[in-house]
Amino acid sequence: MTEFSWPRDRRITVRDLQEATDRGERWAMLTSYDALTAGVFERAGVRALLVGDTAAVVVYGHDSTVPVTMDQLIPLVQAVVRGTRTALIVADLPLGAYQGSAERALDSAARYLKEGGAQAVKLEGGQAVLPAVRMMTQAGIPVMGHLGLTPQSVHVLGGTRRVQGCGSAGDRLLEDALALQDAGAFAVALEAIPADLGTRVSEALSIPTVGIGAGGGCGAQILVWQDLAGLTTGHIPRFVKRYADLDDVLTRAVASYVNDVADGAYPAPEHCYA
Ligand code: KIV
Repeated sequence: MTEFSWPRDRRITVRDLQEATDRGERWAMLTSYDALTAGVFERAGVRALLVGDTAAVVVYGHDSTVPVTMDQLIPLVQAVVRGTRTALIVADLPLGAYQGSAERALDSAARYLKEGGAQAVKLEGGQAVLPAVRMMTQAGIPVMGHLGLTPQSVHVLGGTRRVQGCGSAGDRLLEDALALQDAGAFAVALEAIPADLGTRVSEALSIPTVGIGAGGGCGAQILVWQDLAGLTTGHIPRFVKRYADLDDVLTRAVASYVNDVADGAYPAPEHCYA
């Protein structure tokens, strides 16, 4: 039997991701917003990067994903594409870029592929977005769905901290996931839902499920990289595992620099031109 290896000389495709899920391999996704860290994530083995609308919060400093626009996200998509060679780049359609009509969704998605260089797009929602998903996938654009906690609906959900899909809402979520698959989606992100529902949906679908607070039954996982790296502060959702404390590391590094400048220890002779 030949051992599978992920492509090293071309971009990973949605087909590669499907094949990984089919052979039972769990793969990791991460959000990404700039060229340098995108390259780090790719070298560390992340197979697909999402230029998420969470950029509204972690890049642009808003308190929700609502304000960010396509024009603000496209330069970030371009940077992540430039910083990587093999990762599949998924660009997140922000609020207002796809809800009006399927044609609007297609136009926005086409901008991400043509101007941004992304290979796929993501959007939030179930039944309401099916015509858009159909139109984009029929146009040859890979689409990832997003169910459960959908942060663009923060004003309807009454916040972004509640677990979704409890009780009978779980059946509706499963129906939405199946409908997204039927409409041609290549994967579905499941955010902040009970772990047993995450497993139920993952078992019912043949396409990959990408969990973010949806338990270990999903075929893949995604996190916001600043959460994983310990750069975000304030409320941290239960599903986040902190793999580093970058806030502390950077604060200490910058404080040392500030002190060195004050003391005259920086720049030292080795940092100076003759
Ligand atoms: O925008 C984003 O970062 C996302 C992930 C949380 C899945 O949609």
